[in-house]
Amino acid sequence: MAARTETHTNGRRNSRVSPDPKMDAKAPQIQPFGTLRSLPIGLPDKARASSCEALNEILADSMVLYALYKKHHWLVAGPTFYQLHLLFDKHAEEQNEIIDILAERVQSLGGIAVGDPRHAAELTTIPRAPDGAEEVSVMIDRTLRGSNDVLMSDVLRRHELQVWFLAEHVVDVPLLTS
Ligand SMILES: [Fe+2]
Repeated sequence: MAARTETHTNGRRNSRVSPDPKMDAKAPQIQPFGTLRSLPIGLPDKARASSCEALNEILADSMVLYALYKKHHWLVAGPTFYQLHLLFDKHAEEQNEIIDILAERVQSLGGIAVGDPRHAAELTTIPRAPDGAEEVSVMIDRTLRGSNDVLMSDVLRRHELQVWFLAEHVVDVPLLTS
């Protein structure tokens, strides 16, 4: 006869085995933010800690910048709507890729990556934009400054390109000359 802990008996469930999803799981966090796990990698703890801290600052800024590009993608208006609508979305997608690279780098170093956007909002250096719509020139200026502030290796090249594509929209060149 099978053990009562492994089988259902006479249509009744035993108390230890259940096909029901376990809901409302509660437990303390297993690694607090700002701490390192011990991993078998060659870097000293001090270097890992300072790298994680720096990467998390850039990650927080990148998350805010991603959201800002999306906001501008939605709210942009005027004669350059279509090209800026597409450009802001393209930059948002690029930020999204950067975010993933940064977060996974932090994890691979044994740290905890910033994940919640409310946490990113606490750490970012990018000033908060008003919740409403702004003029196109202000939108561009805002993302231009944000992109220019977030600088580092692969991130740097992507940001330089984003700065270029944005800056071209605020050069003082008339559409037509008479
Ligand atoms: Fe869209």
